[in-house]
Amino acid sequence: MPSKTPVLIGMSGSLRTGSYSNAILQTLREKFAGRADLQVYDLAPIPLYNQDFEGDKRPPAVQKLLADIAAADGLVLCAPEFNHSIPGVLKNAIDWASRPAFTSVLAYKPVALMATSRGPLGGARCLEHMRVAMDSCLARIALAREVIITAAETRIRDGRLVDETCLSFAGGAVEALLTEIKVWGAETK
Ligand SMILES: Cc1cc2nc3c(=O)[nH]c(=O)nc-3n(C[C@H](O)[C@H](O)[C@H](O)COP(=O)(O)O)c2cc1C
Repeated sequence: MPSKTPVLIGMSGSLRTGSYSNAILQTLREKFAGRADLQVYDLAPIPLYNQDFEGDKRPPAVQKLLADIAAADGLVLCAPEFNHSIPGVLKNAIDWASRPAFTSVLAYKPVALMATSRGPLGGARCLEHMRVAMDSCLARIALAREVIITAAETRIRDGRLVDETCLSFAGGAVEALLTEIKVWGAETK
C-alpha cells in the first residue's frame, strides 16, 4: 500500500437525485474511510464528447476530470444498467478519459467494477460492457467476484446499502482494488 491513503474516484453515470448507484458508492466511501479516500465524482458538468476538442482544447471540466483520474490511485465504477448497457453519462466520461488511445489516464489504472438495476435480472450486461470498455482502455480491472446488485430499491435504505450480502460483494471488489493498487499502483504513477 502506498504510504498515503489511496484516493479512489467513484463514478456511477446516474445523475438522479436518490440514485441507488451513488448510494452504494457513498456506503463504500464510509465503509473504507481511513483505508481509502473514495470520492464520489459529479459527472453532470462533463459535456458531450467531441473529438474536435481534444488535447489543449478540452473543456475545463474535462481537463479537471482527466487530472483527477490521473492523480487518483484507482477508480470504482458502480453503474446502473441502461438499455442493457452502460449509462451514456458514464460512457461519455470514459470516452473523454480514454484519449489518447492506449496512453490515456485510464491506461493501467486499477479499476473496480459493479453494476446495479431495479429489476431481478438486470446489471450483468452493463457489467460486461464496462469490462469491455475498460479492457479497450488498457485499464487494470481488479480481479474479484462479480458485483451485480439487482432489485436495488429493496437493498437501499436512507441512501445507504443495507443488504449485508451485497455489501460484502461490493466491499470485496474494493478490497481487490486496494490489493491491485498495493501490488501495481506504483506503476500507474
Ligand atoms: C434509460 C433507462 C434504461 C434502463 N434500462 C435498464 C435495463 O436495460 N436493465 C435493467 O435492469 N434496468 C434498466 N433500467 C433501470 C435502472 O437500472 C434503474 O432504474 C436504476 O436504479 C437506475 O440507477 P440509479 O438508481 O443509480 O439512478 C433502466 C433505467 C433507465 C432510466
